[in-house]
Amino acid sequence: MCGIFAYLNYLTPKSRQEVLDLLVTGLKRLEYRGYDSTGVAIDSPDNKNIVMVKRTGKVKVLEDAIQEHFSGVEYSEPVLTHIGIAHTRWATHGVPCERNSHPQRSDETNGFVVVHNGIITNYNDVKTFLSKRGYEFESDTDTEVFAKLVHHLWKTHPTYSFRELVEQAIQQLEGAFAVAVKSKYFPGECVASRRSSPLLVGIKTKTRLATDHIPILYGKVIPRSDSTSEFMPMEEKEVEYFFASDASAVIEHTNRVIYLEDDDVAAVRDGTLSIHRLKKSLDDPHAREITTLKMEIQQIMKGNYDYFMQKEIFEQPESVVNTMRGRVRFDGNSIVLGGIKDYIPEIKRCRRLMLIGCGTSYHSAVATRQLLEELTELPVIVELASDFLDRNTPIFRDDVCFFISQSGETADTLMALRYCKQRGALIVGITNTVGSSICRESHCGVHINAGPEIGVASTKAYTSQFISLVMFALVMSEDRLSLQQRRLEIMQALSKLADQIRAVLKLDSKVKELARDLYQHKSLLIMGRGYNFATCLEGALKVKELTYMHSEGIMAGELKHGPLALVDDSMPVLMIVLRDPVYVKCMNALQQVTSRKGCPIIICEEGDEETKAFSSRHLEIPRTVDCLQGILTVIPMQLLSYHIAVLRGCDVDCPRNLAKSVTVE
Ligand code: AGP
Repeated sequence: MCGIFAYLNYLTPKSRQEVLDLLVTGLKRLEYRGYDSTGVAIDSPDNKNIVMVKRTGKVKVLEDAIQEHFSGVEYSEPVLTHIGIAHTRWATHGVPCERNSHPQRSDETNGFVVVHNGIITNYNDVKTFLSKRGYEFESDTDTEVFAKLVHHLWKTHPTYSFRELVEQAIQQLEGAFAVAVKSKYFPGECVASRRSSPLLVGIKTKTRLATDHIPILYGKVIPRSDSTSEFMPMEEKEVEYFFASDASAVIEHTNRVIYLEDDDVAAVRDGTLSIHRLKKSLDDPHAREITTLKMEIQQIMKGNYDYFMQKEIFEQPESVVNTMRGRVRFDGNSIVLGGIKDYIPEIKRCRRLMLIGCGTSYHSAVATRQLLEELTELPVIVELASDFLDRNTPIFRDDVCFFISQSGETADTLMALRYCKQRGALIVGITNTVGSSICRESHCGVHINAGPEIGVASTKAYTSQFISLVMFALVMSEDRLSLQQRRLEIMQALSKLADQIRAVLKLDSKVKELARDLYQHKSLLIMGRGYNFATCLEGALKVKELTYMHSEGIMAGELKHGPLALVDDSMPVLMIVLRDPVYVKCMNALQQVTSRKGCPIIICEEGDEETKAFSSRHLEIPRTVDCLQGILTVIPMQLLSYHIAVLRGCDVDCPRNLAKSVTVE
């Protein structure tokens, strides 16, 4: 994980050399987080500019470079007020190199420089927005768009304060991150903020802090009043501030720290620290500005697609990579899930894993249940939140309950979370919306980082939820020698997934032809089993909610227990038959259908002539490891339901009677 460290001295004489020593020491305290490059930014000796040094490799390499660049006498003169920022980067967007190291800058004059931890999932859209305004990008990072967005806001709103510029910029971003920003246009000021990535402020004064407004308990600020900003009054003027990703970099300087909360914006100006909660309300004087900017970026988000859902289907090669970014190290076959890593020992001792969700989120649980059982060797129970609550299901203190929710606000899922939390279970949130209720009320969790999902019908969130649960299963089995071969096979398959999804998306025109065969029918049966039973459930849900046609996901093993009666030469059937452990059973079901004059559409593996021979209509998908097939087989379902909906004149992004987040029980 990346590490942020910034130091601001106000009316406290420090030479730039001393500041650099403090910055380097701060980075050394953060080395344990893992990184592959480093960087610092300080004021130039004439106080008119910002100078930076960035290096790949260890902090020591940076330290040597600092000696080389900043050893002049001008760096040993004391400065009363100064802000320096520093960073250790663990490459997520862009390879480890100086160009991609932080601080990232707004322009070649280093007008604004920023250090960032986390992921900005809509950075491509913001980049397009800025490129249209003449910005040219020099790095492959998501961070750079933030520096340039602040610069754009500064150019277009010269009256804004530094804090307001950063607040506005942050409100355009999606994802989980922490940032600290410095600017040559606002000397002696620093602005920092966080959204689901830790950040704290250390305060050092010669004497005790005057705290008539907010009594500071070590490490925790007593909840503030409902006003959005509080000031930290100082008895004297001399003060030093430390911004850091965690306390290990600050504790040697002061034990008075404030842990910022999500959407807090901490700003130091004229030596005074203010902490504002990002204003969401429309009474914000700049609200209209934010809406305009947001609408413009949202318009870009749809890109050349006709619907958000269509775009989100085609976004999946990138979104699955974003879900794994900064977590899966394919070179070392290792996985780190920062949001739950401290809880893994407790989870390993639990009685059972319960996965609870609604709709598509529930299907992602069904899709990964078998792999979770295999790799965790624990009982895995999947529950629809509504039914789970209806039954007053017994829950125990040694249960671990996962709550899967794209919006993080689904009422049934949230009520189930509170039910389990009340009974002492460990709560794990799997969400796509930082700061959501489920995210905040969980003990720990994983952000799926799929990026904003606008279409009511969930698509990329499903595949990212799926991947997140697969990553969890891999983390849980990290120390199981007997499972290493299996884990390696899955990790290798994960590394190929984005390209394989691209290959499946190339079937779009073929799927569109199939949609033409189907869109005037009243029903569609979708059959499969094993790792693809969830795909049948999810495919049927997509067809129902997008096309208003009836559709049913059928466990192929259940066919002869009833559903086979539905099959004749007029009933549309789609069957998933892949070369996995249940292949023979699926072929058996296929023969049951064709012997009743059924003419199924078959989803099979590329080149599987034997299976293809059973139908003139088939979609061939690339071969992957059995437990990941569901990622590839769901995409033709998403495309099929999309095309049928368009042919039937349905509202693809906002299907009738449905909402993106069902916040009522
Ligand atoms: C999926 O396409 C639907 N929009 C719906 O089933 C959705 O998955 C369900 O309402 C759960 O929403 P959540 O993931 O935001 O909790």
